[in-house]
Amino acid sequence: MDQGQPVTKVIVSARGAARWQAGHPWIYRTDVYDEPRDVAGVVAVTDRRGRHLGQALYSPRSEIRLRLLAPGLESIDATWWADRIAAAAGRRTAIPATAYRIVHAEGDGLPSLVVDRYGPYVVAQLLSAGIEQLRDDVVAGIRAALAPQGILLRNDVAIRRHEGLPLEVVPVFGTVPETVAAEEHGIRYLAAPRAGQKTGAFLDQRENRALVAAYAGPGRALDLFTYHGSFALHLARRAAAVTAVDSSGEALARGAENAALNGLTNITWREANAFDLLRELDQRDESFDTIVLDPPAFAKTKQSVPRALAGYKEINLRAMRLLAPGGVLFTCSCSYHVNRSVFAEMLAAAARDAGRRLELLALTGAGRDHPELLNVPETGYLKGMLLRAVD
Ligand SMILES: C[S@@+](CC[C@H](N)C(=O)[O-])C[C@H]1O[C@@H](n2cnc3c(N)ncnc32)[C@H](O)[C@@H]1O
Repeated sequence: MDQGQPVTKVIVSARGAARWQAGHPWIYRTDVYDEPRDVAGVVAVTDRRGRHLGQALYSPRSEIRLRLLAPGLESIDATWWADRIAAAAGRRTAIPATAYRIVHAEGDGLPSLVVDRYGPYVVAQLLSAGIEQLRDDVVAGIRAALAPQGILLRNDVAIRRHEGLPLEVVPVFGTVPETVAAEEHGIRYLAAPRAGQKTGAFLDQRENRALVAAYAGPGRALDLFTYHGSFALHLARRAAAVTAVDSSGEALARGAENAALNGLTNITWREANAFDLLRELDQRDESFDTIVLDPPAFAKTKQSVPRALAGYKEINLRAMRLLAPGGVLFTCSCSYHVNRSVFAEMLAAAARDAGRRLELLALTGAGRDHPELLNVPETGYLKGMLLRAVD
């Protein structure tokens, strides 16, 4: 039998069915009446009267039991995946970069599947037990749609644990090298698909990097939590001098390599804890024309939000104090649990305590290759604000 054909039926409650009708593709364990329990994969979903609701990815061990794939009864095979992946790629033809996201999981109607392009290579992630079961068809679909030279599965993502899946990095087709040269908005950098964070680079910030560069002043710039120097590289084309800071020496070494690739010699790479360094710079009354704050997710759970907000407020307050008059601050949070309004309230409180008046230049999210659906809040996690000191 075709591995994508539904072999099993799952019956769900009216509340579960209503979620799909409202445009959200998930049905939780508590809304499932009858299920096979043992086999993950594609299932046909019905209500209690036997009315067909759609086909879904089924995860027997996850709280998110069902993820809607298709309303009909068509065969979910390699061709089905190829067609959808090709359609997602078609929506991104105008993206001016060689590395970008092709499939943003639920945001592209392909739940729990991430597909990123790095030049001729693809790095993908299978994030549910249901889709893991369809691996061969999904890989065949990627090959047919994108004709890559190699495909690597970066399945070393913690959320796979909720699905009862191992964390692993698996080459599934051809070879994907340790580093891949990429280009965005005229800046070249080396992505690290095998060992780097995410799938090898922070592709979601691409448009924000270009935006901040457009507003960057000609004086001093500070890029905190720089990783491989992505913001710093863009700032260095505008600013006289850039200080790029990260707690990882390894990440900074890659940053320095990236600067050399672009012939940029005005970046100082500094290994430090950003919290300590900000305190030190503040005590020394230093000032910068441009500051970027792109920390890791401080709130990994709902419970950790208050503590995370205290951390966000501390770094933002200090960064605001360091801004030269007319200087710009790009600040962001990639914590899903810190929503846009909570983030904005925290920033307003930080500005008040810092005694700065800040003009809101732009509210941003992830780039357009990471589509966010209004009815599926989980598709959005990154929020950014570009602010200018008006005094
Ligand atoms: C979200 S990533 C930054 C991505 C980067 N701005 C980009 O666009 O590619 C966060 C970075 O913060 C670094 N980091 C985490 N905690 C830190 C700390 N306390 N001080 C300095 N860097 C830290 C991590 O090593 C990681 O490189």
